[in-house]
Amino acid sequence: MTKTSATFAIVILAAGKGTRLKSRRPKVLHGIGGRPLLAHVVAAASKVVPADNIFAIIGYEADKVRAALESSGIGFVLQREQRGTGHAMMEAAEALKGFDHVLVLSGDVPLITGETIARVRDFHLGRGAAMTILTAEPTDPTGYGRIFRKTADGNQTDEVARIVEQKALRNNEAEQREINSGIYAFAVGPLYAHIGKIGTDNAHGEYYLTDVVPLLDKAGEKVVALRAEDSNEVLGVNTRMELAELDAKLRARKARELMLAGTTIFRPETCDIDEDVEIGTDTVIEPCVQLIGKTKIGADCRIRSYSVISNCEIGDKVLIRPGCMLEDSIVRDGAELGPYSHLRPGSDIGEGAHVGNFVETKKTRLGKRSKANHLTYLGDAEIGEGVNVGAGTITCNYDGTNKTKTIIDDGAFIGSDTTLVAPVRVGRNSYVAAATCVTEDVPEDALAIGRAPQANKEGWAKERRARVKKQK
Ligand code: UD1
Ligand code: CA
Repeated sequence: MTKTSATFAIVILAAGKGTRLKSRRPKVLHGIGGRPLLAHVVAAASKVVPADNIFAIIGYEADKVRAALESSGIGFVLQREQRGTGHAMMEAAEALKGFDHVLVLSGDVPLITGETIARVRDFHLGRGAAMTILTAEPTDPTGYGRIFRKTADGNQTDEVARIVEQKALRNNEAEQREINSGIYAFAVGPLYAHIGKIGTDNAHGEYYLTDVVPLLDKAGEKVVALRAEDSNEVLGVNTRMELAELDAKLRARKARELMLAGTTIFRPETCDIDEDVEIGTDTVIEPCVQLIGKTKIGADCRIRSYSVISNCEIGDKVLIRPGCMLEDSIVRDGAELGPYSHLRPGSDIGEGAHVGNFVETKKTRLGKRSKANHLTYLGDAEIGEGVNVGAGTITCNYDGTNKTKTIIDDGAFIGSDTTLVAPVRVGRNSYVAAATCVTEDVPEDALAIGRAPQANKEGWAKERRARVKKQK
């Protein structure tokens, strides 16, 4: 957090519907990089001022927007009717009392960084401006408001005369490449001394915040422009195509950050790594991996292709083979999973434990060095250390009404094709013979065997063949 003597608030404009997305959901709640658009802007703003000094202007589906961002600790201002960006700032007047300056951001311009916001603030203070506009020169300026700078002796200055919206551009003006990013700094006094004079005589019949520029200029206040160093940062989302483009840019930026910090990512363009994901040094992420939500991965791990890991905590030296799906679970140091393991919420895989192919776990703790390597379902189970769970083992945890627990103590050996009808407990170091249906607790050091005795009918097959041949 940077300190200056002047007090700064940040207002984020987020009341609009986002008509061009053709969605029932408010635009700022559409997600990129695993977070709502507005959450990206709030995160950047929080790097510059404390959450108490941040206000989101909300309107369309205000309750949903507020609920989604409540935990960030920012304030909200309700703009009941969305009558334009100028009107939105009029509604913020009360919240801004007591602040010297306000930085204005857009809820639909999500790639903005804290550094750039701080640059706008510092430039604004340095130039002693009433209004500072962050501008850019993207390859295609269509759709944005265009900046018209003042000239002195035939040269452009950093002062701005007016901003013209796309629809109001005259023929030759459309070539003007410098655009308004919709990100500004204002001195609060001059802004509210003049904002009331904005009219609605434009294509949308709205109060445009951009119309305050000539008003400030006429009053002798200074309006200046500052070019963004990276025009990508000020790209806005108005359509689903732009949503996808910005998502890709954000994920490319995330992958680059991780690689610079010591994670290997092969074919990063095929991986989807959410903004909040953390990965340790020398971990290798193979192509086509999705890391979602607040997933945290330790050092020296290898995450092989086609694995989808959501909100998990993975220790160090973990190997996840191809095609695993992990959700809300913990995997401890040195564990090995997959191929094709499915950890459902509440799974806790112990140090050095193995979970193999077509094994599903849910609310289950698998102790240190325990193994469940093939075709198994472990639900609501507490499994100790050094346990071997044979192929095809099933915990029958659900009787159609209630879920109940299976406990397997340290060192137990569960033979293949065992069904454990919960609630049931298998004691320490005991054996369960293959194909047993365990319905009663097994004491320590015992053998549980529950299967029909086998009968061999000598010569049966040979006789059958002879019988069939005669019938033909
Ligand atoms: C605005 C600028 C344009 C600039 C562009 C940059 C104006 C008049 N134009 O146009 O010069 O190039 O941003 O992206 O300001 N909002 C409210 N309340 C309202 C209306 C809008 O909170 O009554 C919010 C929207 O939710 C959005 C932001 O303000 O987050 C910008 O509104 P939008 O309608 O997208 O403006 P643009 O047409 O993109
Ligand atoms: Ca916009």
